[in-house]
Amino acid sequence: MAKALGIDIGGTGIKGALVDTVSGDLLGERIKLPTPNGGQPNDVVKTVLELVKQLGGLEDGVPVGVCFPAIVKGGRTLSAANVSKKWIGLEAEKLFEKALKRDIHFVNDADAAGYAESRYGAAKGVPGLVLLTTLGTGIGSALIYDGVLIPNAELGHIEIDGKDAEKQTSYAAKERDNLDWKAWAKRLQKYYMRLESLLSPDLFIVGGGVSKSHEDFLPLLTLETPIVPAVHRNNAGILGAAALAVGA
Ligand code: BGC
Repeated sequence: MAKALGIDIGGTGIKGALVDTVSGDLLGERIKLPTPNGGQPNDVVKTVLELVKQLGGLEDGVPVGVCFPAIVKGGRTLSAANVSKKWIGLEAEKLFEKALKRDIHFVNDADAAGYAESRYGAAKGVPGLVLLTTLGTGIGSALIYDGVLIPNAELGHIEIDGKDAEKQTSYAAKERDNLDWKAWAKRLQKYYMRLESLLSPDLFIVGGGVSKSHEDFLPLLTLETPIVPAVHRNNAGILGAAALAVGA
């Protein structure tokens, strides 16, 4: 069994757990700490350190994977759609490594979720192009081709009717605009049809907390591509970050 800690940084909470990266099971409890107000880099790093401590991962040098809601390239965070702008251009991976006193694996949150689904979930063994989207505060996306992750797809930011897609179609947009399932599904229909025409995927996977209510909105969509809920939902980021940390 290869153990690793997976940490998933979000706008409201920072979640973590110890993971068996062979089976994809959580080993022990999942801990969630509130994201510090304003989401400033140093405060977030401190909270991650505290979380790793609470998970018992400080002393034993267990591998750590961290996922974050922004473009992550060469260890730097290059965007900040729903987090503090201070992250843009920051050597974020190094900050975490300094605090945790070890190398970590640092990755975009949707990419971690997509990787988890391809290793342990709805995309396991699926050939061709799988496109996972997470519907939350924003829209995250992950492209997986024959099990290989193509990072930083950022398909939540394609333009639809001249507007950023996630601003109209995320779960936060549903809440903000008080949309019922039917009204939200209309926006989702447009969004997924556009993705279909751009990428011709073989499978869509829908993640994020709202995917637990998939029966309320996925049957309202008419697409060429099969569309299924994620298996791991809110734990997918933790599992994927942990798996990537050990190269599982
Ligand atoms: C960000 C992505 C992130 C997604 C989900 C988007 O606003 O641009 O990097 O994966 O939100 O958190």
